[in-house]
Amino acid sequence: MSTFWSGWIIVLTVGNILACVWLVWWTMKKRKDESASGDVTGHTWDGDLQEYNNPLPRWWLWLFYITLVFGVIYLALYPGLGTFAGITNWTSGGQYEGEMQVAAETYDPIFEKYAAINIEELAKGGEHAEALEMGKRMYLSYCSQCHGSSATGAVGYPNLTDGDWLWGGEPARIKESIVQGRNAVMPPHAGRIEGEKLDNLVAYVQSMSGMSVDTASAEAGKADYTALGCIGCHGVDGTGNTMLGAPNLTDDIWLYGNSAGVIKQTILEGRNGQMPSQQEFLGEDKSHIIAAYIYSLSAK
Ligand code: HEC
Ligand code: HEC
Repeated sequence: MSTFWSGWIIVLTVGNILACVWLVWWTMKKRKDESASGDVTGHTWDGDLQEYNNPLPRWWLWLFYITLVFGVIYLALYPGLGTFAGITNWTSGGQYEGEMQVAAETYDPIFEKYAAINIEELAKGGEHAEALEMGKRMYLSYCSQCHGSSATGAVGYPNLTDGDWLWGGEPARIKESIVQGRNAVMPPHAGRIEGEKLDNLVAYVQSMSGMSVDTASAEAGKADYTALGCIGCHGVDGTGNTMLGAPNLTDDIWLYGNSAGVIKQTILEGRNGQMPSQQEFLGEDKSHIIAAYIYSLSAK
């Protein structure tokens, strides 16, 4: 804020308070000078409707004084007058930081303690049941908006409970997915395949997971599955590659869907599923505990 605007706000605020004080003083003085309680003011409406000049109720005046005093004390203690920070130097940011500091001092040692125990061990619960509870609470706060409150996912957001993993289900891989995040790259193939050839390729993809399709069409599509390099990521047999996050195309689990229309869209436009990295936000220790919770959901 520039000095001018700061000064402007100070002038307005202080001016307002002084005006209120003056108003009280002026009305009291006027009363003393002029009229006694119960007099009419001389204003008349509708023929005979007269305005009486009665004093303000005492409680109302007191409220007014208290408000004035409160305003002055508040402005002295807290920021409010332009750039003047107030005697206490309070800021909302400072209060937040302070609360975070207290929370960190209380919880960080607990997170550290559990981060030192391996994920399989934590996932068993038992004496570490508290860790799974914490993992679950953090999951609900930070992950459920994408993966669902029961972690069963949605279109484009993988189910974390089914034991089928895009990037691998070993504890270390799950933690890596959370800490580092994941960027899936299914490249677009528009311009490289179309018409009947595309229909055949779609039929072939569907056939891999056992869907009933036109066998001749699927047979014809197989060549393009190889020629277009789908094998490079999804494998010769279509079982996928967890190093690349390329899904297994032979099972009945679909991230985007198995209808011909959706598969066509996947092939032509590509897909870029993104799992946001938690390195900066939650950090290693909390991610470790959440990973244990996630691992516990499918490792039964
Ligand atoms: C560079 C590696 C790569 C190549 C090449 C590739 N894919 Fe993919 N594909 C992926 C990845 C990674 C995903 C997951 C995308 C995501 O998670 O957003 C994917 C997703 C898919 C899906 C969606 C599966 C589902 O569960 O919904 C289909 C279908 C698919 N690919 C078919 C193909 C076909 C057919 C080809 C050949 C034309 C092909 N892919 C080529 C990496 C690849
Ligand atoms: C903004 C949405 C979003 C949020 C928030 C999010 N995720 Fe994800 N997550 C995704 C997407 C999308 C993928 C799939 C990436 C891909 O297509 O390969 C994913 C993938 C994963 C995977 C890998 C799954 C597999 O099959 O290999 C794990 C594990 C995971 N998320 C856990 C978490 C946890 C734990 C949190 C909370 C700390 C979280 N996610 C928060 C969107 C999100």
